[in-house]
Amino acid sequence: MSNVSGKKIKLGVLGSGKGSNFVAIAEAAQAGEIPVDIVQVLTDVPDAGIIERAKFFGIPAQYVSPAPFKNKLDGEAEQQYIQILKNAGAEWIALAGFMRIVKKNFLDAFPNHVINIHPSLLPLFPGLNSWKQAIDYGVKITGVTVHFVDSGIDTGKIIAQKAVPVMENDTPETLHQRIQVEEHILYPAVLKILAEKEL
Ligand code: GRF
Repeated sequence: MSNVSGKKIKLGVLGSGKGSNFVAIAEAAQAGEIPVDIVQVLTDVPDAGIIERAKFFGIPAQYVSPAPFKNKLDGEAEQQYIQILKNAGAEWIALAGFMRIVKKNFLDAFPNHVINIHPSLLPLFPGLNSWKQAIDYGVKITGVTVHFVDSGIDTGKIIAQKAVPVMENDTPETLHQRIQVEEHILYPAVLKILAEKEL
């Protein structure tokens, strides 16, 4: 256990994809390397890999329909997400590949406690497919950012960054793979710092 009291922060994770960042956090938590207890996983994609992966760790996970909205979490769906996370006791929220904009009501429910991981050195290349944006632009260095979430798109206060070189023969896929290796180190490391600060 990494803190003397044995206390842990309670974390909710939101994802839309395969959930490799979730796994990195869950493994670090399970190994006692970070004082984090993942209490709930939610997804907006019915067959997202993150659900199976959460179940493997014995963590409650469910799909909650984001309808009727296409790329934001709003209205009744937003209320449902908040309710489920609160009922699970979540105090911190980590967005891990959640492909939707979270809005004011959600952020107000967990003030200054919602963080995100983004596959570029923000403020460069916000939005989608940042690894492809980096290659298309021709930058030689890109990276990973963990930041607080605000109501903009990838605009919140930066907590930590890690650089990743772009190789001559990189494709979007190979670059994303290398970025993800760093994501899986950075996200648990940031959670450790935030948790220890809070506890
Ligand atoms: C990551 O590259 C993350 O930076 C971005 O979405 C991807 C999610 O990957 N926001 P995974 O589902 O955690 O594997």
